[in-house]
Amino acid sequence: AAKAATMDELRAIMESYDGCGLKLRATRLCFADGNPDAEIMLVGEAPGSEEDLQGKPFVGPAGQLLDRMLGTIGLDRSKVFIVNMVPWRPPGNREPSPEEMALCRPFLLRQIELVAPKLLVTLGNVPTKSLFGTTTGIVRMRGQWKELAIGTHTVPALATFHPAYLLRQPAQKALAWRDMLALKARIDVQAG
Ligand code: URA
Repeated sequence: AAKAATMDELRAIMESYDGCGLKLRATRLCFADGNPDAEIMLVGEAPGSEEDLQGKPFVGPAGQLLDRMLGTIGLDRSKVFIVNMVPWRPPGNREPSPEEMALCRPFLLRQIELVAPKLLVTLGNVPTKSLFGTTTGIVRMRGQWKELAIGTHTVPALATFHPAYLLRQPAQKALAWRDMLALKARIDVQAG
């Protein structure tokens, strides 16, 4: 993965990689969506059934909520790049295992290095624990910026709730809204 000089090269390497068992039961690779030149990158957990069919992250119900959340601060998929911790759907939508995430991590790191985002947002517990390197849950992690060194790239990162969780717990949308405002404030500072 580290040798991939472009997103297309990385995608081809991932398409031909057979080392992760998730691939056997997935319909297709769910590589990424959005703009690879974006300054903002979002990291989710794993493809669900709709993502598995379309090969794009966050296109099901959670994705529609994510689009609305981004829209509230003037963002859309032309201004962000969206990936998951693993690019193949775990059977039955279970969480990806630590081993599966470890196998796929070089791909994620290279995606982050190639985009070199100015800001990174983790969606929910799984990417937050993994990328922030913590066992602390999302309820306590969300809303605070931390500088993360990911591969060769260092980036300010913010954790927020996963939109699928917000669909189940709509009362938490108020906190997610605060996180969106924190993201917007940071974007505005960087834009000068
Ligand atoms: N949930 C995720 O974490 N990622 C997706 O792509 C869809 C749902």
